[in-house]
Amino acid sequence: MIFSNKTKKTGDLKMGKQVIVKVPASTANLGPGFDVLGMALNLYNTVVLEEMESDCQIIEVKGEGESLLPRDSSNLAARAVSSLLYSAGYSDHGFKLCLENQIPLASGLGSSAAAIVGGLVAANALAESPFSDQDILQMAVEIEGHPDNVAAALLGGVVVVIKDEESCIYSRLIPREGLGITAVIPDFSISTAEARSVLPEYVPLQDAVYNLGRIALLVTALREGDWDLLRVALHDRLHQPYRCQLVPGLADVFAAALESGAYGAFLSGAGPTVVALTPPDCDAGRAIADVFQSKNITARVLQLEPCLTGSYIL
Ligand code: HSE
Repeated sequence: MIFSNKTKKTGDLKMGKQVIVKVPASTANLGPGFDVLGMALNLYNTVVLEEMESDCQIIEVKGEGESLLPRDSSNLAARAVSSLLYSAGYSDHGFKLCLENQIPLASGLGSSAAAIVGGLVAANALAESPFSDQDILQMAVEIEGHPDNVAAALLGGVVVVIKDEESCIYSRLIPREGLGITAVIPDFSISTAEARSVLPEYVPLQDAVYNLGRIALLVTALREGDWDLLRVALHDRLHQPYRCQLVPGLADVFAAALESGAYGAFLSGAGPTVVALTPPDCDAGRAIADVFQSKNITARVLQLEPCLTGSYIL
């Protein structure tokens, strides 16, 4: 626990104080940016956190994950709350946590990052904000393991983030307006652990170079609105070729997106959601969903926008 040497508070949290946090979904990697690029999206979980008099924990879940998520201390958002309160010196305090989720679970849209970031931001506000965004990012990465989703969910916009030894260093950019973002969410889930288990330990130098150039082009394209660059900048050789085996029809999905007029498409994070970046009025969602349908997989189509604010307190 890297924050345990902070000065412990001895007073109470504000009794009866309630904090409400909105935390966005996120799409990680954006094709070539494996583990270093994330974009926040305008699909939200809401975290309502209230201090309890006793040291008990009450956890309620509505919406996505209502029938699946644990209601005990193993709940990821509750773990994040407990961890931050412990670091702030309030380890003996109870809380009531109500999660109203719009982000589908284990689908590649950052549901676990949202749970962690939502819990941390809410607990920080309840504890009168002892920690900075940078501290919260470090705590979130410690829980999540990789930084791209949590950085986007916390900070908003498009985030380039790296781990430099123990520290996370990031740069945030606001994508130019005019980009269509279509997420197609097939009706099955993949755990990040499973999606990472199929990746090789080493990759060929040419594949690393292939992705390096595309990441640089992608950042430029998003910042400058140079959308034609996306036609090459979204390609990847570091993770998607290995993850194809987990998503039936993925190569056909990418081809259908291009055929429908999209600039390109990629696995959102570890998948199985596919995100297409498109000109306005492009129906890539329908084309992608049709490919999944041909494999007997139903899929939801969401037309989304970047969330520029990141997590915020209501
Ligand atoms: N960058 C991570 C991965 C994101 O691709 O495994 C997981 O959501």
